[in-house]
Amino acid sequence: MRVGVLTGGGDCPGLNAVIRAIVRKGAKQYGYEFVGFRDGWRGPLDGVTSELDVAQVRGILPRGGTILGSSRTNPFAVEGGVEQIKSNLASLGVDALIAIGGEDTLGVATKLHDLGVKVVGVPKTIDNDLSATDFTFGFDTAVNIAMEAIDRLHTTAESHHRVLVVEVMGRHAGWIALHAGLAGGANVVLIPEQPFDIGKVCQLVEDRFKTQYAPIIVVSEGAVPVDGGDMTLTSGQTDAFGHVRLGGIGDRLASEIEHRTGKESRAVVLGHVQRGGTPTAFDRWLATRFGLHAIEAVHDGDFGKMMALRGANIERVPLIEGTGKLKLVKPEEYAEAEVFFG
Ligand code: F6P
Repeated sequence: MRVGVLTGGGDCPGLNAVIRAIVRKGAKQYGYEFVGFRDGWRGPLDGVTSELDVAQVRGILPRGGTILGSSRTNPFAVEGGVEQIKSNLASLGVDALIAIGGEDTLGVATKLHDLGVKVVGVPKTIDNDLSATDFTFGFDTAVNIAMEAIDRLHTTAESHHRVLVVEVMGRHAGWIALHAGLAGGANVVLIPEQPFDIGKVCQLVEDRFKTQYAPIIVVSEGAVPVDGGDMTLTSGQTDAFGHVRLGGIGDRLASEIEHRTGKESRAVVLGHVQRGGTPTAFDRWLATRFGLHAIEAVHDGDFGKMMALRGANIERVPLIEGTGKLKLVKPEEYAEAEVFFG
């Protein structure tokens, strides 16, 4: 059996741990061979491969990024893309594929499975917004990085009596902002699921200064004001899946707060720092287990499935359950954090 492996979408700490687990177990337990596909769906689409065997995966467990490269290539946006993939898999002698990715990469996997491609999915995203799994790997690392930044920003904000706005990733879901905000003791957390009122945010800023401490505001890149205003800046560029590149809300928010309250306000954009570098122990553990279970699913011929963490167990669920709709922060989960605002 020859198994193809690919990593697609935004990179994420733990991708290499998944690849390593797939190859180590597949080679040792089942005697499988592997083909590494380069840069997400671009690999099978254009037939771009790299060697993938036990020697290639030595030493990669703690490494960030992905040894296979990634991209946001969408084969369904390319004419004849599906036929091209099928013919490349056939000519390379690839019997099954393991796709490691988020909403978009696994969305493609879902459709390809319906079209007869033997594929198993592993969920990844630092945003933690995939349904059907309690957590995706990469999220814990991102939250820890954001928490450490918040911890550090508290002391400098207090020394200068400034407002510090921390912009974190999270296009549709505010999980990183909420978890890092709670863990780091933020005074306001703004997430895409709960449009914010800038007047109320300014009131919370004033309240915080009354306690002789300085406010830290954590904002997801995809957060929006209630009046539907224009605080999220986008470059206007979209990727192959139609997503607009986000960013800039931190700066806009900081200048609006400074304008309205007269308090000096600065923004810190954590950006790709949240995605880079070595994964936490939790993410290595989760990624490794996802990899072990994914190759087992291939061995069982259980295609069209995605690995999911349910409690402490890894379960197989239909791909569509993970990609059909996003997992968003519920109002009551957000409300829990509000007691610390101001
Ligand atoms: O999907 C993960 C993510 O990190 C989002 O939080 C963010 O909006 C997006 O990727 C950024 O992607 P890129 O690095 O390709 O601009």
